[in-house]
Amino acid sequence: MVSVHVTGGTGFVGSHLCNRLAENHDVTAVSRSPERSPVEITGEVERRTGDVTDFDSLDFTDADAVVHLVSLSPLYKTGGLSHYDVTLRGTENVVDASERDGVDYLLHMSALDADVDGATEYLRAKGRAEEVVRGSGVDSGVLRPSVVFGEGGEFEGFCRRTTTPYVTFLPGGGRTRFQPLWVGDLVEMMDSAVEEQRTGVWEVGGSDVLSLAEVSRLVHRADGRGLKVLPVPMAFARLGMTAAEYVPGAPFGVDQYRSLKLDNVVRENQAPELGVEEYDLRIFAEYLDVEL
Ligand SMILES: NC(=O)c1ccc[n+]([C@@H]2O[C@H](COP(=O)([O-])OP(=O)(O)OC[C@H]3O[C@@H](n4cnc5c(N)ncnc54)[C@H](OP(=O)(O)O)[C@@H]3O)[C@@H](O)[C@H]2O)c1
Repeated sequence: MVSVHVTGGTGFVGSHLCNRLAENHDVTAVSRSPERSPVEITGEVERRTGDVTDFDSLDFTDADAVVHLVSLSPLYKTGGLSHYDVTLRGTENVVDASERDGVDYLLHMSALDADVDGATEYLRAKGRAEEVVRGSGVDSGVLRPSVVFGEGGEFEGFCRRTTTPYVTFLPGGGRTRFQPLWVGDLVEMMDSAVEEQRTGVWEVGGSDVLSLAEVSRLVHRADGRGLKVLPVPMAFARLGMTAAEYVPGAPFGVDQYRSLKLDNVVRENQAPELGVEEYDLRIFAEYLDVEL
């Protein structure tokens, strides 16, 4: 048994992960408001207050391993803090605190297409954060998942909120492709990485590649409603989202438009390297209990 601290351990992925890790390890969930979580943390998990943007608030002295999950969502425009403030500076602080406190292993949560020259601020901040992790003196693993679904996640709700039932408009007809990964499969892989202190970078996704239009149809079908998708020309979407960038409180901006032009699909699914075979990955339609 090792002691594992999970930054963002009370978020969507974090709550599921803490429950899984707590079966075999001493687990501490670190976040700014550790009593709140979208999924009940049923395992024996200590909750500790810490803010990754504030180095002095981080204390990993009793941790053998740290899992670093904190980030801002790419689905919506950022408010006060930027992706650089939270993802990049936050990762620098977590890495520095891990080195200071003698942590043996760091598992870092990145994203598909993370790249210092990526198309969006989210991807560029994730790319730079990966460089910080790789340049550290701590043994590390980096996970790059496609979009994650499951209890407490925002993906299905996002698809419901951004489309109307029966007939909806989607930029480019909703052709952007995803490879939705069930959170239960993801935390199984993370548990395996922590258990064996695996080093490397892994791109992981679910078993199906689905377009945004297909995902939206499935989500509405699960509610017993059909969906016909009508395309909005990408040029209109660009104009609308560029204008929205400057409207305070508007949920979308330029980066959300740029994301629509990027498929979120792995080059090679490396889930098996972390102990989950592709044929065992949970299918999104099956999770929703609808036919594909
Ligand atoms: N969900 C997906 O589909 C998906 C896909 C690919 C990659 N990822 C990556 O997976 C990771 C986890 O995603 P998620 O969906 O679980 O996110 P989430 O539900 O938004 O959870 C974020 C967690 O971070 C904590 N947090 C936020 N700011 C913090 C700060 N400054 N200091 C300390 N804790 C802070 C939050 O709690 P407080 O607000 O109380 O601090 C919460 O516990 C992220 O790195 C994300 O980029 C997610």
